[in-house]
Amino acid sequence: MRYFKRVEGNRVYLSPIRVDDAELYLKWMNDPAVAVNFGFAHRLFSLAQEEAELVELSERWTFAIVEKGSDRLLGNVFFMDMDHVYRIAEVGVFIGEAADRGKGYGGEALSLLLSYGFDFLDLHNILLHVHEDNQAAIKCYKKLGFRDCGRRTEAVYKNGKRVDMLSMELLKTWFAEREKVKETDIGGKPRMGNAIQDALLERRTIRGYKPEALSKEQVAALAEAALASPSANNAQPWRLKLITNKPLIEEFDKAIFESFKVTLPEVYERSKSRGSTVLYHAPLVVLILTPQANPAAVDVGILSENLAISAIGLGLGSAILGLPGFLFKSPEAAEIWRKKLEIPEGYDLALTVVVGYKADGVEVRAYAPDFEKVSYIE
Ligand SMILES: Cc1cc2nc3c(=O)[nH]c(=O)nc-3n(C[C@H](O)[C@H](O)[C@H](O)COP(=O)(O)O)c2cc1C
Repeated sequence: MRYFKRVEGNRVYLSPIRVDDAELYLKWMNDPAVAVNFGFAHRLFSLAQEEAELVELSERWTFAIVEKGSDRLLGNVFFMDMDHVYRIAEVGVFIGEAADRGKGYGGEALSLLLSYGFDFLDLHNILLHVHEDNQAAIKCYKKLGFRDCGRRTEAVYKNGKRVDMLSMELLKTWFAEREKVKETDIGGKPRMGNAIQDALLERRTIRGYKPEALSKEQVAALAEAALASPSANNAQPWRLKLITNKPLIEEFDKAIFESFKVTLPEVYERSKSRGSTVLYHAPLVVLILTPQANPAAVDVGILSENLAISAIGLGLGSAILGLPGFLFKSPEAAEIWRKKLEIPEGYDLALTVVVGYKADGVEVRAYAPDFEKVSYIE
């Protein structure tokens, strides 16, 4: 066994680090993308140095971040400069591979380490440093309850420019509060927040995905969330088809897109401007099928939202799509695609939901609630 579940989360666990992972760490430490945010882009690391450092770190508060299911090493999360009299420490985290960043692994690992620090090491105040241009990290730290506590002007020099170094701090009470009540300004009104409320407000239609496949666990979790949906009379009229077969998804996407050329020219142009795609290159396509005798639009809508919210909990984005259904308006296309997608006799495609990791640079609609649409009888 390479790693041990010392502190376990939903998608990652923290394990003691292994000195024989030195070569992998060495690769990451020499990767400018990792080094630049750590502040040692100017340094060069050798294997001997890395091994010596790992021996030292393994005796301190440094944990390996390991992906659950695959037991794959993702990076490290650690305390340094710990003082047991003042009950303070500084914290740091890195994710080694570019493909693993932006997926919430670092945030979850840090959250696990913070819980460990407050609940087992009895820490009172935890500090961190972050470069001002690392906005993704700052956003993640704020979500965990960290607050700004200092700025060192132009203290970092990288890529030929100077950047401010920010300090952020976290008290145990702030960390606990972030789970319970959070005041966020939405449409000028404060709201009570929690993880579910946050997910509902965070959900946006994602129209561009990374090619990366989802894990079997993620797909199974989505199916489970979908099946938990309420339905009228508990009829559960839907059937679900979860497609991860990439060539089939691409072929399906192309067929839908091309069919619009004649049937829906306006939509064709819009889809063209979005990269000639209707399914947005998502690695998972969920077909929601309903009986022809009971299209159950409300039940389908609820189920699609369950999928979309579950996706957020798994660090994924989604889009609920009505357009794929139009392919089936043509009897010829319907015959071909019912077979290819194994749609059972007596069922139709009611709605499609695509899920995956949001691609970098894809724009999403800003959430702007219109409270005028709501009225109250008190
Ligand atoms: C039933 C339904 C069908 C939809 N069909 C599509 C679609 O085919 N293509 C698409 O890009 N978006 C589709 N959407 C997404 C909406 O355009 C989107 O939810 C809306 O613009 C609000 O943006 P938001 O989801 O980012 O808040 C659909 C949404 C729903 C609820």
